[in-house]
Amino acid sequence: MTTDNAGILDTLATRLGERGVLRAEEEVSRYLRDWAGDELGTPLAVVRPRNTAEVADTVKLCHEHNLRVVPQGGHTGLVGGAFPDRDQDELIISLERMNRIRDLDPVNFSMTVDAGCILEAVKQAADAEDCDFPLSLGAQGSCQIGGNVATNAGGLNVLRHGMMRELVLGLEVVLPNGEIWDGLTALHKDNRGYDIAQLFLGSEGTLGIVTGAVLKLVPKPEQTRTAMLGLPSVTSVIELYSLARRGCSDLLSAFELIPRRCIELAMEASPQLSDPMDEAYPWYVLMEVSATGPVDLGEMLEQLLESGMEKALVLDGALASSEAQSQHLWQFRESMLEGQRQRGKHLRTDVSVPISAIPAFVDRADAMVTEVSPDSTVIAYGHVGDGNLHFNILPPPSLSDEDKHTLLHDLEQRLFAILDDFRGSISAEHGIGRTKQAAYLTRLSPTERELLQGIKSLFDPHGIMSRGRILPE
Ligand code: FAD
Ligand code: LAC
Ligand code: ZN
Repeated sequence: MTTDNAGILDTLATRLGERGVLRAEEEVSRYLRDWAGDELGTPLAVVRPRNTAEVADTVKLCHEHNLRVVPQGGHTGLVGGAFPDRDQDELIISLERMNRIRDLDPVNFSMTVDAGCILEAVKQAADAEDCDFPLSLGAQGSCQIGGNVATNAGGLNVLRHGMMRELVLGLEVVLPNGEIWDGLTALHKDNRGYDIAQLFLGSEGTLGIVTGAVLKLVPKPEQTRTAMLGLPSVTSVIELYSLARRGCSDLLSAFELIPRRCIELAMEASPQLSDPMDEAYPWYVLMEVSATGPVDLGEMLEQLLESGMEKALVLDGALASSEAQSQHLWQFRESMLEGQRQRGKHLRTDVSVPISAIPAFVDRADAMVTEVSPDSTVIAYGHVGDGNLHFNILPPPSLSDEDKHTLLHDLEQRLFAILDDFRGSISAEHGIGRTKQAAYLTRLSPTERELLQGIKSLFDPHGIMSRGRILPE
């Protein structure tokens, strides 16, 4: 560490208190592990401000000394964006101590929160006021609102409520020069010029540090019904989706595709889970409908199941008749992630194609994997109701780490080339960070690149904030 940097840390410790600046290796290490268990880089220190003014103070000092910073939320992001650089001095600014619910207005259906609030806590606070904050994802017990904004998080209810982009009414952001931008409006409708707040959605910490957000709420559903259905093919899954979208009065809130392999992975990771149906089926759909008011959701789902069976789209189905049964079905969705994680290094993707193209895309991608690496296992699952698939690949366990790496890189490139034919997205959900950067950059036109660089230099001319994420160094 340079004397200059040590001096900056001393100054910060004086301003933020000793607990505000962590430097000891044993204290810092818990900020450096991502969900897959990989340890990434070593920071100069972890700074833990308690409020927006302290964030601004920290960033201003770093800006004056050209010291790089990277904001960190719950470090559940899946593209390596929140972790420090291996080769450069970088300071982690963790928002974990900024976890205050500032205000909740049930009449305006909005709440204002510190960016370090954990998503689950925000959902609970909304629930207590008969409202719902409808962002739902597997990491909700750890991820923070600031991280959700910065990654434009999606998850299980996007088809009904949209991504984070559609759930934010206003933001408060500390800009890379330390200035505070106060855009904390609680307006549902506002059309004044360019929308500055939206630029921060999906900006992955490259344009500023989100310190507060006004979130859009919806009425708390009075009833929710869940079903797990067994289907013969991806084509039938998409046909059923059309039927459900039209037949469920637009009350469909989740429609998740799960292959048989994931049901098995879930049962491996959580042995208390029992097979959801008497027989095994190649594909499953986990769906949910929810509503307020006098609607018979049970009847609605039964009719859908009947009509799906008549058309031979659905082979069997389990309708949850209690909250406990519903949770049991959702546990498959949660545990299958742990099952994959336990398999070690694998290719994780979050691609999208038009919903109608999903069967053709899966067919082509499957055939490619069979040709290139017949011993690999494809796990294609995800939020098909919004065209988003996690087309993941487990390599043969017998390969060395190095061979796995080479194989997965090759498979990823081939997969993305197929995606290009469908004009799909290589990142529908998790962002670019560092891990998707090369594939992202090669697909940008010169015009797009120029516009993106222009935005970055406008906000962060010294390039101190999350440098090397999304755009290159
Ligand atoms: P971090 O991981 O800490 O950071 C992510 C990025 O945001 C980094 O670039 C970081 O620098 C930046 N950042 C963090 N906080 C701020 C801030 N306050 N201001 C500016 N920048 C900031 N994602 C989905 O979209 N849908 C899913 O269904 C989904 N499921 C998941 C399931 C599991 C089990 C896991 C581990 C992850 C999942 N994710 C999913 C990934 C998702 O991106 C994150 O869970 C979440 O949005 C990131 O929040 P975080 O607070 O953990 O951010
Ligand atoms: C999921 C995460 C990984 O949908 O995005 O499981
Ligand atoms: Zn997902």
